[in-house]
Amino acid sequence: MVTNNDLAKFIDTSDEWIRTRTGIEERRLADRSKGETTLTFAHQAAVKALEMAHLSGEQIDMIVMGTVTPDTVMPCTANQIQAKIGATRAFTFDLQAACSGFLYGYSIADQYIRTGTIERALVLGGETLSTVMNWQDRSTCVLFGDGAGGVVLQRTTSERSRVIATKLFSDGRLGEILSIPHGYGKVPPHVPEYRNDHHKVQMRGNELFKVAVRNMVDAASQVLWENQLKTTDVDFFIFHQANLRIIDMCAKSLDVPREKMWLNLQKYGNTSAATLPSCLDEAWRSGRVKKGDLILMVTFGGGLTWATTLVRL
Ligand code: ACO
Repeated sequence: MVTNNDLAKFIDTSDEWIRTRTGIEERRLADRSKGETTLTFAHQAAVKALEMAHLSGEQIDMIVMGTVTPDTVMPCTANQIQAKIGATRAFTFDLQAACSGFLYGYSIADQYIRTGTIERALVLGGETLSTVMNWQDRSTCVLFGDGAGGVVLQRTTSERSRVIATKLFSDGRLGEILSIPHGYGKVPPHVPEYRNDHHKVQMRGNELFKVAVRNMVDAASQVLWENQLKTTDVDFFIFHQANLRIIDMCAKSLDVPREKMWLNLQKYGNTSAATLPSCLDEAWRSGRVKKGDLILMVTFGGGLTWATTLVRL
């Protein structure tokens, strides 16, 4: 666990600046000396999700993992989790949609289930963003943290408890606002043009802030309108945990009171694809959300990508 004051020991920042501009107080980072990685976090999330669903790995038909910090490019993280949980019948893949990775995976799983192709999917989101931070860049390194989370989705005949809608969006024209330029196609690490900062997160925070608020509000409004619902029909909201000011502005535009939202960014920072499933897990285990509740999740991330999901638990 790394507090804002810990960061202030090696970069020019303060607890007061980080707290007031972002709402973040501390973040959890993978301890590499203990072997903690994206895979180990996501594996733990997978095991807990299966336990909660009273299922074994063999009963899972598909594993999808949203991550931009896989331990290895090949095999992908979902393949490795498959081996660890014994999900021998599943097909598995990672997807890259940055902070939207979890809801992108959720939507794909929902489509496969709706078409009758599969019965059950394990949907995971996890990152070790600490490995792609420039720890000298105070405008990015204070924002992010490491973690993972996940859910099991399964086919149901219930009219009540079900995924009502998922909506995915992206705008590749704005991709440079938040990027990790490293890749194996254009500038692989062994060529002279490769720069040491290519594998680090680069962000134009101010621009991102405005696009994030606008698109998250639009996405949430659209999904509600298309399903003939009003904000007041929704029992609980989970917004991507990037910045408390972004969440507050979305909540204000949509007229959502604080008591109808789960917040955990103060403890973890922005854990990208892991923020929504970690909030969902905490809200469920605390009893704050319960069976029958209508939940709206909204996210925003690099790409740029954004997404929303309306689900009746
Ligand atoms: N500590 C102290 N000062 C800082 C820090 C810091 N950690 N970071 C930046 N500053 C300084 C800047 O250098 C600047 O100083 P200057 O005026 O002397 O040039 C000043 O603070 C103001 O900088 P801004 O960038 O204008 O500050 P802003 O109020 O916009 O807050 C922030 C910056 C927190 C990054 C904000 O823009 C933001 O949250 N943007 C969205 C970022 C985000 O959420 N990204 C991820 C979302 S998408 C996803 O999750 C993938």
